[in-house]
Amino acid sequence: MTWPRASAASQTWSGDVARVLVAETLADAGLDLLRAAGHDVDVRTGLSPDELRDAVAGAQALVIRSATQVNADVLAAGDSLVVVGRAGVGLDNVDVAAATERGVLVCNAPYSNVVSAAEMTVALMLALARHVPQAHQALADGRWERNRWGGMEIYRKTIGIVGLGRVGRLVAQRIAPFDVALISYDPYVSAESGRAADVEMVEFDELLERSDIITLHMPRTPETAGLLGAENLAKCRSHALIVNTARGGILDEAAAAAALDGGRLGGIAVDVYETEPATESPLFGRPDVVATPHLGASTAEAQDRAGIQIAEQVNLALAGDPVPYAVNA
Ligand code: MLT
Repeated sequence: MTWPRASAASQTWSGDVARVLVAETLADAGLDLLRAAGHDVDVRTGLSPDELRDAVAGAQALVIRSATQVNADVLAAGDSLVVVGRAGVGLDNVDVAAATERGVLVCNAPYSNVVSAAEMTVALMLALARHVPQAHQALADGRWERNRWGGMEIYRKTIGIVGLGRVGRLVAQRIAPFDVALISYDPYVSAESGRAADVEMVEFDELLERSDIITLHMPRTPETAGLLGAENLAKCRSHALIVNTARGGILDEAAAAAALDGGRLGGIAVDVYETEPATESPLFGRPDVVATPHLGASTAEAQDRAGIQIAEQVNLALAGDPVPYAVNA
């Protein structure tokens, strides 16, 4: 049996057994699918960048989540790579242009964890509005702080959704029954398309000025990095809550901490960080911040879906078949 390169390929390769380097935790269901296709599945998690470069040499496929940086050096070391599979949505940790240049197909699992991400967003909104983690921690530490943690209702508030893509729309559907006004800024979504989802499309400044709660749902790109920095945070309502489950760096952590210090925001819930893993951030340890360690996709269901979908894509790429979720074919 041979493994022709998939459609983005420029090099040729053939062999009996393809080695699939799995560099981050992948659901067993995905690993089983890769093995069932006859591949040599080499699971090596927690590799340093040097170790990754060594391990990827000679592998035909590399499977990752969000922690592994697949930059031009890694792609150069992966001299036999046919495909890079991202078990999840975001591709900001993959240099797609460098992969394309080398004829390496990049694919992801774009629908695998969107429901989990939307549910996590709603969970953080409610936790932030009612100070659930802070009150829990106080009680766990033996303090009955009933008077300290008065919260804010979601009812009849204006929710500003920045990015009305897959996750943004699911958040809108899930939060709508709280009887809220939904507004959104998304330069790629028309007013008509927003209306169909019961969302009023507005300009970014208007969203900042009107929202009681702002939630971010866009990829991190050069355009979106630092989008919520000092200047734009100053336009928010002084009681506004901000939720970031999208990508670190879209919300400037230092500027957000300074805005909280200056009483220019009500609170922040954050799941993603400029640098991950993050054990230090100006947002950590504050009573007005709820912070979680990039858990948006961390459900059994989403991980199963991501593992299965990416294994299917990688198997197709290695078989030389069309890959539905290829991003550079
Ligand atoms: C994604 O982009 O799919 C999510 O952030 C989850 C993950 O990185 O695994």
